[in-house]
Amino acid sequence: MTRAAVLCGVGGALPTIAVSNEELASRFDTSDQWIRTRTGIGNRHVIEPGRATSDLAVEAATEALAVAGRTAGPAPVDLVVLATSTPDRPCPATAPVVAHRLGLGTVPAFDVAAVCTGFLYALATAVSMVTAGLADRALVIGADTFSTILDPADRTTAAIFGDGAGAVVLRAGEADEPGALLGFDLGADGAGEDLITVRAGGSRQRASGEAAAEGDQWFAMQGGPVFTEAVLRMSESSRTLLERLGWTGGEPAKVVAHQANIRILRAVGEQLGLDEKQFVVNLDRVGNTVAGSIPLALRDAVADGDLASGQRVLLTAFGGGLTWGSAALVWPDLGRPAPTPPELP
Ligand code: UT7
Repeated sequence: MTRAAVLCGVGGALPTIAVSNEELASRFDTSDQWIRTRTGIGNRHVIEPGRATSDLAVEAATEALAVAGRTAGPAPVDLVVLATSTPDRPCPATAPVVAHRLGLGTVPAFDVAAVCTGFLYALATAVSMVTAGLADRALVIGADTFSTILDPADRTTAAIFGDGAGAVVLRAGEADEPGALLGFDLGADGAGEDLITVRAGGSRQRASGEAAAEGDQWFAMQGGPVFTEAVLRMSESSRTLLERLGWTGGEPAKVVAHQANIRILRAVGEQLGLDEKQFVVNLDRVGNTVAGSIPLALRDAVADGDLASGQRVLLTAFGGGLTWGSAALVWPDLGRPAPTPPELP
């Protein structure tokens, strides 16, 4: 039997503050119609004053661990990998404090930074450690609070990004079980580092000393080229993985792609010859939650009854770095769906 990492829990968390397109239109020269037509987004959430990325990560992880307890029984978590580009502090990583607050003892815990591809990079890392025997039960979290780094004057990024977190639990198992991660395709191209960036605050343009150039402390994105690259890279990466797995002829049943823009999802669908109905969509409710996006979409799809056990599922993402990647699994039976979060005003 081949040792594998099997998904056995999923959870998510959103801040309580919802921001509608209408509210953005009262702040910027924009409209509900522009945002819906150009992105498909109708609402996003922003972190409450005084709260941070770790707070969302702990909430999402708590839900995922509860599901894992039901489906796979109680067992100690012995690894925490957190994908984020908005850590609580630049140093240290946020994963150790998340593990501590979850009461997981002194297990190894570290952050992975690959922006919107972060969750898939973190998942690949945790899967590798489980299959290598370095861990038996791993918690993988994607959590970001981009509202804390958005330029208050930039209507484009305000329209797209939202805060949120998602988490999955992996257990050691066998490759032919539903839930086993069956393969990955990952890539990066640093030639595109300027397309999605926060220029200041690192070792190149330092947080102290010389003042950062005006606006360089904020997140900046060149939307047009990023759109084109996102479609290209997610399509190519997905195709590579699907061919390797022999999933052809309309497979996979479901695609859970990074939730950046409905037009990107449609274009990837066209490239892969897949129907729009095969794509899980929650960006209308939450926007682009960066590393939180894929696990939160998984969690919402379970809650909405949009993912059924036995379905072949493709995960695919693109983000800053540039980075991209895909992963595949057969969806496991996670039992009773997690309750749908209450409607927010
Ligand atoms: O998370 C991974 C990385 N991120 C992405 O995948 C995002 C990829 N990019 C996109 O989703 C799209 O490029 C955006 C949604 C960011 C922008 O949509 P677009 O259709 O590419 O618009 P654009 O940037 O070409 O801008 C078209 C016009 C511009 O006005 P002018 O120069 O033609 O007069 C923008 O200033 O739309 C304007 N615009 C807006 N208008 C109203 C940009 N943002 C807004 C806005 N409301 N919120």
